[in-house]
Amino acid sequence: MYELSEDHLQIRDMARDFARAEILPGAAERDRSHTFPAELVAKLAELGLLGVFIPEELGGAGLDLLSYVVALEEVSYADAGVGVVMSVQNSLASWPILAFGNDAQKAKYLPKMASGEWIGCYALTEPGAGSDAGSQSTRATKVDGGYRLDGSKLWITNGPQAKVVVTYANLDVASKHKGVCAFILESDWDGFSVGKVEEKMGIRCSSTSELVYEGLFVPEENRLIGEREGFKVAMATLDGGRIGIAAQALGIAQRCLDLAVAYANERQTFGKPIAKHQAIQWKIADMRTRIEAARLLTYRAAAMKDAGQAGSAECSMAKLYASETANFCAYEAVQIYGGLGYSQEYEVERLYRDARITTIYEGTSEIQRMVIAKHTLG
Ligand code: CAA
Repeated sequence: MYELSEDHLQIRDMARDFARAEILPGAAERDRSHTFPAELVAKLAELGLLGVFIPEELGGAGLDLLSYVVALEEVSYADAGVGVVMSVQNSLASWPILAFGNDAQKAKYLPKMASGEWIGCYALTEPGAGSDAGSQSTRATKVDGGYRLDGSKLWITNGPQAKVVVTYANLDVASKHKGVCAFILESDWDGFSVGKVEEKMGIRCSSTSELVYEGLFVPEENRLIGEREGFKVAMATLDGGRIGIAAQALGIAQRCLDLAVAYANERQTFGKPIAKHQAIQWKIADMRTRIEAARLLTYRAAAMKDAGQAGSAECSMAKLYASETANFCAYEAVQIYGGLGYSQEYEVERLYRDARITTIYEGTSEIQRMVIAKHTLG
């Protein structure tokens, strides 16, 4: 049995109390109205949950990845849309600056990201570079004092709100990932614009958009690490990000189980609660077993990464299993609710839609299997 430390339990309980009191009540309305949770984001920042890994001297909470996972699971239990905003801010936007940035870059960006004043995003995906992320065709052209960027990025979570954009562009498209550079952009720079904002199936309170770069000048001081080393930044960032999505998926799955248990004990058919029917008992048993297995994989990946021991395979296994578990649990929760589960009046309908993205973004299940197989077969 994997035991959380007292410190991790305290963080989990703090996030749980906040999420259930303040995030859960408005989740259905935010989903309906596609409203970005600006006030909740400010409160997450006050609780230290927007700068979980950022050291205290840079304004963050200075905590580890496991703390982030237990908190993100609780936030996502209440609203997976708020969960992804927190996840992108921490693992995809702040983490690469912390891990690969120089002192000046960290000092400029991280305190304002931890305080929530500056929202961040991670812009890698392009129309022709989704799963095949190495096929980056956004161009970086060297100019006096820096680079000019031209191209567009798609499916960028937090895109419309972001001030800080960690992005990727290619100095030499023909050499694929070997020409990729990583940059930190600011969205109010000339040549930057937000394109189409997506109408999504789920996680609707988070915003997802296209970003367009037209002759966008980036000073040299805003390049992360060396020229042509950007793909490594992108991939290493996604390793940690995938543990975050596993935590988000766990939150969704646990909420599905809790709702299904409550409903099964209350709803009567054939003269008894449906919980007394073996068909329902087996569903509940499978949901719980998969959730506990997913939680062990996710906590283990986080703890191993904290100890410097996790490779890409551990991160991908957590993401693969937890995201497929979220979809399994959402499917079964709707099935247990029957016709009511298909109605927008019931939370399981939203959970079913929210779960769906978890096997797609930050690498599809198929990509996770590629990564796991590569690290298993050698
Ligand atoms: N850490 C550091 N470096 C890594 C790495 C890692 N985890 N994985 C690979 N690399 C390095 C390799 O060592 C290699 O370096 P060299 O050229 O120096 O040898 C280089 O990267 C290329 O590696 P591969 O040959 O394995 O790369 P590939 O082109 O075959 O692609 C892939 C591998 C796993 C399929 C990758 O393209 C991938 O992860 N695709 C999915 C992309 C993805 O997850 N996108 C999600 C976008 S983000 C999102 O969804 C955001 C949101 O808003 C929520």
